[in-house]
Amino acid sequence: MNYKDIIEKVYNETKEISNEGKIATYIPELANVDPTMFGVHMTNLKGEGFGIGDNLVKFSIQSIAKVLSLTLAYKIMGEKIWKRVDVEPSGTKFDSLLLLEIFNGIPRNPFVNSGAIVICDILVSHLGNAKEEFLDFVRDVSNLPNLTYSDKIADSEKAHGYRNVALCNFIKSLGNIENDPTEVLDFYFDMCSLEMNCQQLSYTFTYLANGGLKISDGSKIITKPQSKRINALMLTCGFYDESGEFAFKVGLPGKSGVGGGIVAVCPHSYTIAVWSPLLNPNGNSFKGMKFLEEFTTHSDFTIF
Ligand code: DON
Repeated sequence: MNYKDIIEKVYNETKEISNEGKIATYIPELANVDPTMFGVHMTNLKGEGFGIGDNLVKFSIQSIAKVLSLTLAYKIMGEKIWKRVDVEPSGTKFDSLLLLEIFNGIPRNPFVNSGAIVICDILVSHLGNAKEEFLDFVRDVSNLPNLTYSDKIADSEKAHGYRNVALCNFIKSLGNIENDPTEVLDFYFDMCSLEMNCQQLSYTFTYLANGGLKISDGSKIITKPQSKRINALMLTCGFYDESGEFAFKVGLPGKSGVGGGIVAVCPHSYTIAVWSPLLNPNGNSFKGMKFLEEFTTHSDFTIF
């Protein structure tokens, strides 16, 4: 079967499954989304794509943006970055404080909130205006020159982000935040507020399937070894305490967001983005996980 037929078949089957997920409400603005939305879009390295359902409706990508901020910080700092954040699965929820005290303020990986906050601190230290320069970077990677942050989403999270405020201050007290926590958090919340649709998201991530190069013009986003390592981190840490299960069921590097999006990368082959807002208890899209499990298990679109 070709990829269009498989996507269509698995999409229609997954659509019928009763959704046991729940919408994220701790960021009030996220609760205003239509819970029945369900979109899928795949992009190959020639830039050809295929999408179905609500693949052209934009949504809050949330933690998926952590891969893009890591990419920029890694590009700037090189291997020294791993002194500030580790590369181990945390086995904890995305917003856990638990392991920070044990590991002296070094987050387990760059994808849990604590790790992504440290990455934001790095960007604030190295860039004159992290908010603008990060947006310019994502505009370039995604070929979306008009991309903007969502003030609505960012303001909603800023008003309710007590957990992240605690995380940032705790890490600061342990000596691993260089800047003013308010400034770091402000940037972190903006970074998480980016919106894309499945087509744009799958296109944006093609550099990770293409050895760090943009598929449109071959320009270098990051080096090949760096691309390999980001993929490895997505495979081992992209889904928090469900990372093992995602690797077991889907078997691709990927990253989820609390807005219900998931993007997965099949190195040297394709990327795929799925969006369905209702989340399983681990904060990952219920139908997104189901779709990807079925898609890679009963097709040749897999790395294992
Ligand atoms: O910091 C937060 O809690 C959110 N801005 C992002 C969390 C998230 O997307 C978790 N992923 N599934």
